Amino acid sequence: LPRLFSGMQPSAASLHLGNYAGALLQWRELQTTHDAVFCVVDLHAITVPQDPAALREQTRRTAAQYIAAGIDPEHSTLFVQSHVSAHAQLAWVLNTITGFGEASRMTQFKDKSSKGGVDAASVGLFTYPMLQAADILLYDAAIVPVGEDQRQHIELTRDLAARFNSRFGDTLVVPEVSILKETAKIYDLQNPGSKMSKSGESPAGILWLLDEDAALVKKVKSAVTDSDGVVAYDPAGKPGVSNLLSILSLLTGETVEALVASFAGLQYGALKGAVADAVVAAFAPIRTRTLELLDDPAELDRLLALNAGRAEEIAEATLTRVYDAVGFLPRA
Ligand code: TYM
Repeated sequence: LPRLFSGMQPSAASLHLGNYAGALLQWRELQTTHDAVFCVVDLHAITVPQDPAALREQTRRTAAQYIAAGIDPEHSTLFVQSHVSAHAQLAWVLNTITGFGEASRMTQFKDKSSKGGVDAASVGLFTYPMLQAADILLYDAAIVPVGEDQRQHIELTRDLAARFNSRFGDTLVVPEVSILKETAKIYDLQNPGSKMSKSGESPAGILWLLDEDAALVKKVKSAVTDSDGVVAYDPAGKPGVSNLLSILSLLTGETVEALVASFAGLQYGALKGAVADAVVAAFAPIRTRTLELLDDPAELDRLLALNAGRAEEIAEATLTRVYDAVGFLPRA
């Protein structure tokens, strides 16, 4: 089976609808046709300040949400990045073949560092994309299913793999990105011009996977729309309504066109009611299952340790190939 790699940062107490749409929905499907490796990327999370106790808990919670959303830890390899030391080791090698200007052009770094200024940003945040490339390349991944915001990092990963191969001989697999057009980018409900994000500014604009039903309904009902009063899909002119239509489409499997037709002559309230129902139907079972899994942290930790062992075997073999290719003296 072709290998797949993807991951999420444990940087909040819950995943959100964007993570579910852009990543988890694809992961769940693709794990049946791929040798799937899913990672909770805690090394990435500390590129911005994290509270240690919260980080540990969020790491478990993120893993539990993967499982609750349908990732099968018996069949797929679900592990925590810091449990496999080869990630940091390969990242170092990739740092040495990345141009400083090339890294400076990564938009995620520019966005995140623009908030507090470049002096407040860590060097870890700057080298973040090379660690991400290491994640992917360690597993010889053929595809990487992600949301649109990760496209540039996967492009860099491809460039680095090809560069490494041309400099040191064929060693790394050049991966393909997998981005589903319909779910590529979910927007903040209060701020439909910006993507739904764990660090979003408006708490009411984010639908958390672990939100209570009433909170989900309230947030959907107060989503920003417009004053036309016509349910139509026009992302540029009607970003709020179009985002709601995209969300409903991805949760129900209906096409946007069919949905627009079915809401002809109806008010935004009807659309919001349907979206709220669909979100609750999708999230409530995931919340329940996540909380059950978190009731037994020892079992979860045992599962993660077992999976880290599987991941490590693959990763160590790749790292050995890379160390050999660059000319490191093998430890006798
Ligand atoms: P992260 O943790 O920000 O997001 C996890 C996944 O969710 C997707 N996503 C979205 N998709 C649609 N609409 C949104 N509003 C939205 N917000 C987030 C992201 O595209 C991602 O697929 N750098 C990565 C983590 C990472 C990784 C990797 C991913 C580290 N190493 C290797 C793939 C392969 C990140 O910050 O994702």
